[in-house]
Amino acid sequence: MPINLVAWMPASPEFPLDELVVRAMDGSPDSGFDCGRADQTDFLYERAWEDHQAQLSVTYLYYFGGILAAYATVGMDALPLARSERDPAMRYRDVSAMKLAQLGVHRPFQGMGLGRVVVGDIVELARDEALRVGCRYLTLDAQPDLVGWYESMGFERNVLRQAQRIRDAIEHRRDPDTIAVSMRFDLRKHIRG
Ligand SMILES: CC(C)(COP(=O)(O)OP(=O)(O)OC[C@H]1O[C@@H](n2cnc3c(N)ncnc32)[C@H](O)[C@@H]1OP(=O)(O)O)[C@@H](O)C(=O)NCCC(=O)NCCS
Repeated sequence: MPINLVAWMPASPEFPLDELVVRAMDGSPDSGFDCGRADQTDFLYERAWEDHQAQLSVTYLYYFGGILAAYATVGMDALPLARSERDPAMRYRDVSAMKLAQLGVHRPFQGMGLGRVVVGDIVELARDEALRVGCRYLTLDAQPDLVGWYESMGFERNVLRQAQRIRDAIEHRRDPDTIAVSMRFDLRKHIRG
């Protein structure tokens, strides 16, 4: 299934968008992809296809010149929001959302704006889905060092969900400063110009 690559997020000018080919995975990808973080590289090879077949998530592969340059995995989510995080029209605590569950860019392609292009593409995907089903937010769990990068694209921190995660971390004797940071992107606020 081809997806819309006319992302509203500006790509780095040097990244040749028209040479990027995107498709949903149809089997475990060939070896060779390495995004430098074991969690994301291992997910692609060890879990992505199994989860895809079980309809738990869908993984999109981004090819550049026949090389697997990036991937993104998405699924549905329900985001709990504190009263202070909700706008007045929201009568429910759990709000409809799509989740960018995994994201990885192959090392040779990093730093060229491709990560930003993929995030923008998934925002477009969520926006398209929101025309058919309720979907207000795109959510993700950011590594602490990437929070600023996601904020630069319009994501904000989830207060209630993160508070729950911090409680869980403390209960399991983990350092809360090292856990992933729950974030959301408001699909209504950031409308394509
Ligand atoms: C994070 C990742 C997807 C970014 O992809 P990319 O194609 O290099 O991203 P872009 O070229 O669009 O943007 C690069 C930006 O990310 C920042 N960045 C990348 N890795 C970073 C890190 N570990 N810590 C802080 N910033 C980081 C760069 O500083 C750069 O910032 P800038 O836009 O202000 O210059 C890629 O580095 C990757 O696959 N990392 C390993 C897997 C991972 O961490 N996935 C995300 C889990 S939340």
